[in-house]
Amino acid sequence: MRLPLASGIMLMLILAPALGCGGSDAESQVTIGETLYAEHCQLCHGDAKSGEGALADVPTHGPDGHTWHHADGQLVDIIIGRLSYRGKKMPAFGGTISDEEAMAILEYFKTGWPAEILEAQQEASKNWNALNP
Ligand code: HEC
Repeated sequence: MRLPLASGIMLMLILAPALGCGGSDAESQVTIGETLYAEHCQLCHGDAKSGEGALADVPTHGPDGHTWHHADGQLVDIIIGRLSYRGKKMPAFGGTISDEEAMAILEYFKTGWPAEILEAQQEASKNWNALNP
């Protein structure tokens, strides 16, 4: 009489991932990021992965670009406009998008980065967070 219950639990364990439990949050983050990027960023930065269509002197976000050399926290500050520097041409998006939405755009960029770049950038982001509590 115990077998049916056990197989029921097994079935739930097998079906849970198929029903979208787990991982769906990250997926929707990427979708949100992709939509925002197309709306506000692509006209200057070009395709998020290949950089195709980027305007002259605008950095691209793919593996060949420069974005992954920065930590998450720093990139969010650049996007929102909290981080300024001489000659900055990048518009501040503070009034337009939230920190969470800027992070969603970064999650979208990361879908185009190979494992070694993801790892290096994750390490840099951890260090940056430790220095900027
Ligand atoms: C009007 C053109 C323009 C738009 C629109 C724009 N950017 Fe930029 N962005 C730039 C330029 C130019 C730079 C290079 C730094 C500078 O001159 O300020 C830059 C720099 C950056 C950087 C730093 C990249 C690096 O490699 O150091 C990030 C990240 C970034 N932009 C993300 C975004 C995101 C996300 C959006 C949309 C929410 C966006 N940008 C919209 C022009 C733009």
